[in-house]
Amino acid sequence: MTAADARAVIGETARLMMRHESGVPARARHLLAVHGYACLIADGEALTLDGPDATLRLIIELAALTHDIGIRPALATYGSSAGPLQEALGAPLARKLLDKLNLTPEITERVSELVGSHHSYGGERGLDHQILIEADFLVNFFESSYTKERIEHTLGTIFRTAAGKALARELYLCE
Ligand SMILES: [Fe+2]
Repeated sequence: MTAADARAVIGETARLMMRHESGVPARARHLLAVHGYACLIADGEALTLDGPDATLRLIIELAALTHDIGIRPALATYGSSAGPLQEALGAPLARKLLDKLNLTPEITERVSELVGSHHSYGGERGLDHQILIEADFLVNFFESSYTKERIEHTLGTIFRTAAGKALARELYLCE
């Protein structure tokens, strides 16, 4: 896939997700913000759509845009958006959305897997998973009004990339 084709797929995914979040602009904005931070961190890790890690970059961007796709059905079905519920409902829904986009099965499967595990912080995780988690925290620190102490703790225990740590410090921990 060329970089231009990948960019087109990312744009279409964003539009489909805006439709998925119809009537809920706060969640639409959350997805776009997480996608923006994920791109900044991926740039910092030298993952580009026209480089040797183009597939990984594409997976990261698609996962950032779709990661919370399970919130809407979790709220509708259970009245709760608890992490495990939205992960369980989100993974198949992400697969269904991506099936419309002519991606390879490997890409669709990995994005779906990331949607299904983005609240799971234990154990080893790939760079795509790591970047998704950091980008989500960079938005949630603000949206959920984390204290500086909690942000520092999260930085120390969960963040690993240089760009993610630098963004968190610049945005939230500078005096
Ligand atoms: Fe999120």
